[in-house]
Amino acid sequence: MTPTEKCISGTIIILLIIADTLYSIADNRKTILVTGGGGYIGSHTVVELLNRNYSVVVIDNLSNCYARNPSEKPESLKRVEDLTGRGVVFYDVDIRNTAALEKLFQIHSIDAVIHFAALKSVSESVEKPADYYENNVAGTNNLLQVMKKHKVYCIIYSSSATVYGEPEFLPLTERHPTGQKLTNPYGRSKYFTEEILKDITATNSEWRVILLRYFNPVGAHPSGSIGEDPFDIPNNLMPYISQVAVGRRSKLNIFGSDYPTKDGTGVRDFIHISDLAVGHLRALKKIFSNKFKGWKVYNLGTGKGYSVLDMVKAFERASGRRINYEFTKRRPGDISAVYADASLAKRELNWKAEKGIDEMCEDTWNWQRRNPNGYR
Ligand SMILES: NC(=O)c1ccc[n+]([C@@H]2O[C@H](COP(=O)([O-])OP(=O)(O)OC[C@H]3O[C@@H](n4cnc5c(N)ncnc54)[C@H](O)[C@@H]3O)[C@@H](O)[C@H]2O)c1
Ligand SMILES: *[C@@H]1O[C@H](CO)[C@@H](O)[C@H](O)[C@H]1NC(C)=O
Ligand SMILES: *[C@@H]1O[C@H](CO)[C@@H](O)[C@H](O)[C@H]1NC(C)=O
Repeated sequence: MTPTEKCISGTIIILLIIADTLYSIADNRKTILVTGGGGYIGSHTVVELLNRNYSVVVIDNLSNCYARNPSEKPESLKRVEDLTGRGVVFYDVDIRNTAALEKLFQIHSIDAVIHFAALKSVSESVEKPADYYENNVAGTNNLLQVMKKHKVYCIIYSSSATVYGEPEFLPLTERHPTGQKLTNPYGRSKYFTEEILKDITATNSEWRVILLRYFNPVGAHPSGSIGEDPFDIPNNLMPYISQVAVGRRSKLNIFGSDYPTKDGTGVRDFIHISDLAVGHLRALKKIFSNKFKGWKVYNLGTGKGYSVLDMVKAFERASGRRINYEFTKRRPGDISAVYADASLAKRELNWKAEKGIDEMCEDTWNWQRRNPNGYR
């Protein structure tokens, strides 16, 4: 290269760096609406959003997160504000409330929605299927109608590995069939919602949709000030184990000891909540990129399967306490082993889970020990 050429190419590189920096600053000034942001995954994701300078508006109807009284922010979000030193705008709004949503979209100029709000108990969904369809499917459809009216076309949706049903092969790739042999209305509500989201992109090319299929989120923010705080008896393994460790429950029931796995207990892909939260940030980056069109789906898991007994042992190591447990019969609808192929997210989102089961258990224990009764 001649000196002039060198100078030109140097200038171009510098201009590109400046453009890139300006673009990412502008990106972080974006306003994100987080539905269900007072809950477990939502609150941890809001931490990551605020740490990257996004403006955050949360709606949550407080059905599964604690607020001292309904006119106040949920306790989880107050702690998020303390942790990050930044503020969150909060509304006690239900995703099914069209008028309230309309008002919110008029007040705030929203760039994208991260949609967590849903009912999520498998067993409750068997007893109250209509509530699940009403809240998870009709509620989402309502949100989409309002978004469209206000020309907000970017949405990241909390889906679940349950949409794969009984695995035909492992690890589960995004190409594994979905919607077949689903054993409960919760799983179907996630599947139907995914289909709605895919359909809308087919009729209107403005929509940008990312479906994130979570495996089993566990753990807590390393500070121990936010974590999972189920209102009822926990449906999931980790909060149950940690409530046994802290003395709130006498023993853990392990459903099934005769699965075709290494120790007979079920195998799952547990993912640290902070890794999962960061996955949403990478998805946002992707959805805002110029090239993005239509819909995309990504598994968010570690790609490793651990058994229930592995987790019990890891929790005993982390807490220094013994976990009493008892084997009981299999739960109808439970699957023996589920774990992800997470390589697509690695390739396309530049995302990979970093934390292993010891950190998951240490952080769960840290949260539980500091907050034996959750946020109350
Ligand atoms: N936790 C998991 O194991 C898991 C796994 C896969 C997918 N998901 C999905 O991730 C999302 C978040 O899960 P989570 O574990 O944080 O649950 P969560 O219950 O802690 O959070 C959901 C929040 O949504 C709120 N909410 C419920 N219905 C609402 C409504 N109609 N209007 C407004 N707010 C409402 C609740 O009050 C709660 O704070 C859900 O969509 C869930 O289906 C969770
Ligand atoms: C966020 O903003 C602060 C100033 O308010 C700045 O110091 C920090 O570098 C920003 N962080 C990111 C990730 O942009
Ligand atoms: C919030 O939504 C859930 C899910 O539909 C519903 O069961 C609950 O009654 C609502 N809670 C409030 C306080 O409106």
